[in-house]
Amino acid sequence: MDEPVIPSAPPRTVFLETFGCQMNVADSEQMLGRLTSSGWTVVEDPAQASLVVFNTCSVRDHAEGKVRSRLGVLREEKRQRPHLRIAIAGCMAQREKDDLLKKWPHVDLVIGTDQFGRLPELVEGLETSGRLATTAFADWEDDAGVHALRPEGVNAWVPVMRGCNYNCTYCVVPYTRGREKSRRPESVEDEVRRLVGQGYRQITLLGQTVDAYGKTLGDGSNLARLLRRLHAIDGLLRLRFVTSHPKDITDELLDTVAELPKVAKHLHVPAQAGSDRILRMMGRRYTRAEYLHFVERARRRMPEVELLSDFIVGFPSETAEDFQQTVELMQQVRFGGSYVFTYSVRPGTPAVRLPDDVPEEVKRERCNRLLNLQLEHQAAAHTALHGQEVEVLVEGESKTDAEMLHGRTIGNRNVVFPRRDGIVGTLQRVRIERSTPLTLFAS
Ligand code: SAH
Ligand code: SF4
Ligand code: F3S
Repeated sequence: MDEPVIPSAPPRTVFLETFGCQMNVADSEQMLGRLTSSGWTVVEDPAQASLVVFNTCSVRDHAEGKVRSRLGVLREEKRQRPHLRIAIAGCMAQREKDDLLKKWPHVDLVIGTDQFGRLPELVEGLETSGRLATTAFADWEDDAGVHALRPEGVNAWVPVMRGCNYNCTYCVVPYTRGREKSRRPESVEDEVRRLVGQGYRQITLLGQTVDAYGKTLGDGSNLARLLRRLHAIDGLLRLRFVTSHPKDITDELLDTVAELPKVAKHLHVPAQAGSDRILRMMGRRYTRAEYLHFVERARRRMPEVELLSDFIVGFPSETAEDFQQTVELMQQVRFGGSYVFTYSVRPGTPAVRLPDDVPEEVKRERCNRLLNLQLEHQAAAHTALHGQEVEVLVEGESKTDAEMLHGRTIGNRNVVFPRRDGIVGTLQRVRIERSTPLTLFAS
């Protein structure tokens, strides 16, 4: 390298921490890829870094609170090391824009959810530009994800759709991610081919409402056709997609998932609530009966399909009766898994106008009740599998026991079984012997 070496210049070392959803993880992989190809080294300790990046989440106040506390800690660090550069990326950056620079005088750069590709250039330019916030929304940067720095393994996540055209009244995502936009299918295919060539075996397609994929392309593209196109790639073993909105799940999509053997029989389709009154106030655009109709349409084609949901408890004015209807919906559907959240008021969303009137302890109690019910359902579903043989895609070493491997069924259930050499990244048949609500154990 013929760059002049300036002895006093701090080394280009970056510490990046990601909060929030898989989309943010994917964006972080892109940021790290772009930084490392511009000569940066990734470090695991902020004290060793000349640049700290937080890729932030705004979905609930708790997520933002974690970032605020990290920033508090860094205030002292920056006093001692004035060369330290601090960048805030992601949804909180998009939501608060240059207000973040006013609130946090030690933050140098605020970079919005469509601008992260410019991170290396903007950090480089800070000496001349001074502190900066850049948060414009932009078209899809169509570079087939060549810059992403991914961890090695069996799994890779590929964004295909960004933004959201719904406007659920509680949700900050439409403001932090902007209007829906889809990536061209050729570009998705290029990336997936390259990833499979590198050894990844299971690809998860990402979008805030991934089942709306293609609408904005205006060329007849949709998720069903994209799945079909990717399914043909040799060496790819499993294909998944998250997260779906109940209104966008078409019969064509369900038929395609049912037909293609590599596509996971696993649909993450948040119901959010079981009471029509609350669903209407949430702006979800479906009724409980319509949600149940989706479940019926999915199960008619795929009796074995695993359905996953998100729920929000304690939405403004939620009564015990409303909550009971959510419980009953869960009982009726028996999901393979559910994320349950307590309602958190988000600034700038329509629901701000509604009084946050369900007491915190009632929210907690409802959240625990729903989680416990979900665990009961998982325990029963797992017990019913004892003695059966299932096929798993082997993903790697078990997180809790180095003697064991773990993998996933086509329905995305987690299976742990004894280690054998050379089977990571392959499909194997194992027999289920025992289980906990979260894990199946096989021989
Ligand atoms: N795009 C996805 C999910 C987006 S956010 C979808 O539409 O399904 C992930 C989950 O966070 C949501 O499904 C919802 O259950 C939860 N969530 C969103 N806003 C929330 C809020 N203000 N308070 C509590 N939970 C929230
Ligand atoms: Fe948020 Fe609703 Fe869009 Fe999901 S569909 S990201 S919950 S606005
Ligand atoms: Fe959070 Fe933004 Fe994802 S708000 S959940 S990081 S889209």
